[in-house]
Amino acid sequence: MSVEDVRAADVRAHTFDGIEEFDNRLPNWWLWTFYLACIFSVGYWVHYHTLGTGDSPTDEYNIAQAEAAALSLKRARENPVTNESLIELSKNPEIIKEGRKIFENPQLCAQCHNASGNGNIGPNLTDEHWVYGNSPMDIYETILKGRATDPEKGYVGGMQAWEAKGPEFVQTVTAYVLSIMHTNVSGKAPEANAKKLPKSF
Ligand code: HEC
Repeated sequence: MSVEDVRAADVRAHTFDGIEEFDNRLPNWWLWTFYLACIFSVGYWVHYHTLGTGDSPTDEYNIAQAEAAALSLKRARENPVTNESLIELSKNPEIIKEGRKIFENPQLCAQCHNASGNGNIGPNLTDEHWVYGNSPMDIYETILKGRATDPEKGYVGGMQAWEAKGPEFVQTVTAYVLSIMHTNVSGKAPEANAKKLPKSF
């Protein structure tokens, strides 16, 4: 076979600006990567999309997020309770939801502070005036231990201790009180012995 014959057999019919194109077979190694990719894609599709037996990147992301959230919650609960751990809890929407349920229960906080927290027998917890301080730990102590009458210090008292409900209960409802702090729902006027304080965190 002459060189011209080979050319006539392998060169494709078209030319562009005088440039011709051979029609060579693709190398086997290239074809195999292609075939294997095809086979892999079928397995991939069945595993992730048809059977759903694998976690998609979105699922993996969501699982990682949930694990991180659970870990941060666990840490916030386990540590000795601090201003920071309570602030961390107050940023967790699930905790706030739980805390709101506790607070708004007519048998619990709402009985004396109203469901909105704007005060009834107990003070308005949404205003800027505080008898016992408004740092997260002040609020936590108030709820944990209660506040008794103390005529010497001018304390009216009447806030019961909630320690018996357990630390999680107190932390959760403290986080909720932090979330409504200084939202200024109009209601009960500030107590005579309360101080106006800036938001503490
Ligand atoms: C039986 C009524 C009653 C119930 C129930 C009650 N409180 Fe109180 N609370 C009071 C009174 C009264 C005071 C004010 C005490 C004082 O001035 O000495 C108070 C004070 C407080 C304070 C401190 C306010 C400040 O100005 O320093 C916080 C915080 C508080 N309550 C949160 C709660 C939470 C949270 C609950 C539910 C777990 C709750 N209270 C349930 C009556 C109640």
